[in-house]
Amino acid sequence: MKNFIYQNPTKLVFGKGQIAKLPQLIPAGKKIMITFGGGSVKSNGVYDQVKTALKDFETIEFWGIEPNPKVETLRKAIELGKEKNIDFLLAVGGGSVLDGTKLISAALAMPDKEAWEIVLSGYAPVNTPYASVMTLPATGSEMNRGSVISRKETKEKYAFYSVDYPQFCILDPEVTYSLPKNQLANGLSDVFVHVMEQYLTTTGQSRVMDRWAEGILHTIIEIAPKVLSGTHDYDTMADFMLSATLALNDMIRMGVTEDWATHMIGHELTALYGIAHGASLAIVLPGTMSVMREQKRGKLLQYADRIWNITEGGEDERINLAIARTVDFFNSLGQATRLSEAGIPEEAAAEVERRFNERDVHYGEEGNVTGKVARQILESRK
Ligand code: NZQ
Ligand code: ZN
Repeated sequence: MKNFIYQNPTKLVFGKGQIAKLPQLIPAGKKIMITFGGGSVKSNGVYDQVKTALKDFETIEFWGIEPNPKVETLRKAIELGKEKNIDFLLAVGGGSVLDGTKLISAALAMPDKEAWEIVLSGYAPVNTPYASVMTLPATGSEMNRGSVISRKETKEKYAFYSVDYPQFCILDPEVTYSLPKNQLANGLSDVFVHVMEQYLTTTGQSRVMDRWAEGILHTIIEIAPKVLSGTHDYDTMADFMLSATLALNDMIRMGVTEDWATHMIGHELTALYGIAHGASLAIVLPGTMSVMREQKRGKLLQYADRIWNITEGGEDERINLAIARTVDFFNSLGQATRLSEAGIPEEAAAEVERRFNERDVHYGEEGNVTGKVARQILESRK
């Protein structure tokens, strides 16, 4: 196990009706900007719950943070925040609203810095306090410092990290009942791949991290049919929400190496072709597993055995079967697992290679996923 420091200060407020706790979670006297997406919170009652809870606070609203939040939109929120002297931000929505709010938080704390410059720097050393009411189990953004921002003008999409975590997140599984099937599928895919990015590296680094990761993978596979059935079972959605948070809140990466190449390639597909984040990962992950099979051999065999109960046959046979089972799982969610099925042209592979080479990137647990390797990964998913 590698050395590590673990400290996650985000207060996790979980369960039915917990939005009513907002007044106890935000310090009195704060001037709050509440940020929203396109309006789902108005039809599912979340907006009313938030407004009722915050009736004694001074609030302003910013609407229109879109999926894969754009810096062009966020600049408007930053201007408004400066004008109104905002000193607390509350994101009410999915990962995009919260990620966008993380950039607003950083930009308000550094009024002389241009928003895109903050994204490109990769790190915000200071934040205006922020928190969320999370309405979509997927990104884990509610309990981490990451944020992924897009720039429409140049079709770019990059992550940056804030020094501060969200102060709290409210997770009420009942707010997920209004999610359409494709968003549920994208969320399940995202959570699954977050775990794989931290699990599918090398064996023998930490038994406890392995078992924890495998526990989340098993949970997602087990609940997926019920989540997608639209039965709105509280305990199922509670497990989904908590799995999403635990998959990317630093818990399963203590002392182990991480990959993230699948995510980085997926971000390029989203930036270039507009495909949803979770959907991009369902295409790329099987390619990463296949192309990186020598480096990941031991862990692929462990994954085959412990997740899919594949114990017979030669090593390559077991690995091939594990990849096939992974593809079947994504297909069972209704996801495309090939570029062509998602309407993405074959040229994507060469374009991602060009972009990675231009930035001279080295992703993956061994730092060997370059433009050339990314191209091989995508070519395997034509
Ligand atoms: O905008 P509204 O009207 O609210 O509708 C949203 C949006 O259209 C809708 N939605 C959200 N909650 C709902 C709901 N509809 C009905 N009922 C509800 N309860 O869902 C749509 C998609 O929302 P979005 O926030 O874009 O989805 P998600 O949470 O999957 O976030 C995706 C973004 O997060 C980034 C992705 O790259 C992408 O930009 N990620 C952030 C990470 C992080 N901060 O740690 C890690 C991830 O790997 C990921 O990269
Ligand atoms: Zn993700």
